[in-house]
Amino acid sequence: MKYKSLVSINDYSKKEILRILDLAAEFEEHPQPQLLNGKVVATLFYEPSTRTRLSFESAVNRLGGRVFGFTDSSSSSVTKGETIKDTIKTVSNYCDLIVIRHPLEGSALYASEEATVPVINAGDGANQHPTQTLLDLYSIKKTQGTLEDLNIFLVGDLKYGRTVHSLLMAMSHFNTTFNFISPKELNMPDEYKLHLDKLGLKYYEHLDFTEIISRADIVYMTRVQKERFSDPMEYEKVKNVYVLKNSMLENTKSNMKVLHPLPRVNEIHTDVDKNKKAYYFTQALNGVYARQAIIASILGLK
Ligand code: CP
Repeated sequence: MKYKSLVSINDYSKKEILRILDLAAEFEEHPQPQLLNGKVVATLFYEPSTRTRLSFESAVNRLGGRVFGFTDSSSSSVTKGETIKDTIKTVSNYCDLIVIRHPLEGSALYASEEATVPVINAGDGANQHPTQTLLDLYSIKKTQGTLEDLNIFLVGDLKYGRTVHSLLMAMSHFNTTFNFISPKELNMPDEYKLHLDKLGLKYYEHLDFTEIISRADIVYMTRVQKERFSDPMEYEKVKNVYVLKNSMLENTKSNMKVLHPLPRVNEIHTDVDKNKKAYYFTQALNGVYARQAIIASILGLK
């Protein structure tokens, strides 16, 4: 995997995914404050972010590397009309690794083709968010003890939610049963269902999950992605369709965990936060370990 970009979770085999998760566990247990000594990472965020950018920066800093970049393309020469190609070619000269978030699907792949250093996709439009997936898998494995044979509920915006797209692709290595809960306007796109069909994996689609939540090992809540809607009225119709409340967790499995890539808006009531089944803030912490593992692996550091 040395010097290979991470554009899609499909870039990693099941074996490579498991190796990253093992490495993340090692970073959690044994911090390596000098591993990235002398290395420089660029974070180019053309879209807003709290967790992804800051956990990448935390990961690099905690490993002894340095970070620069922009958090808003309006402060860069993008506003003067510079293309992504020219920006990537230029920034490649300044760093050992580029982390990019961009609203256009396929932008990270394009960046990886133009860059002379490895590129990590930190989210490209509604397409994929592979580093989020690796921290999600790390969180699931840590809490469930395994990734195999789990019943995963994906709830909310399954159409535009890039985290659920890459999570589905990764979990399809592990004999997962999927339950998709969304309004019909935000159904899981057909390409992902076809992928599961080809593998013979089970999935079920529902409009509501209150009656079936007791079957879940993981409930993965998602925000309705307002920024992807072209018609604001369409967003208004679906924005509050699912709100997970503490009372809904009463008859769930004892080891069930609620995950959310965050940020949340209204889809998890704050009364869930104190429940031991709420795992989303620890999930965000796991992002540091997972991203340390990804960076170390991509740069071929021992
Ligand atoms: N999960 C996630 O991508 O969060 P941010 O948008 O805050 O980076």
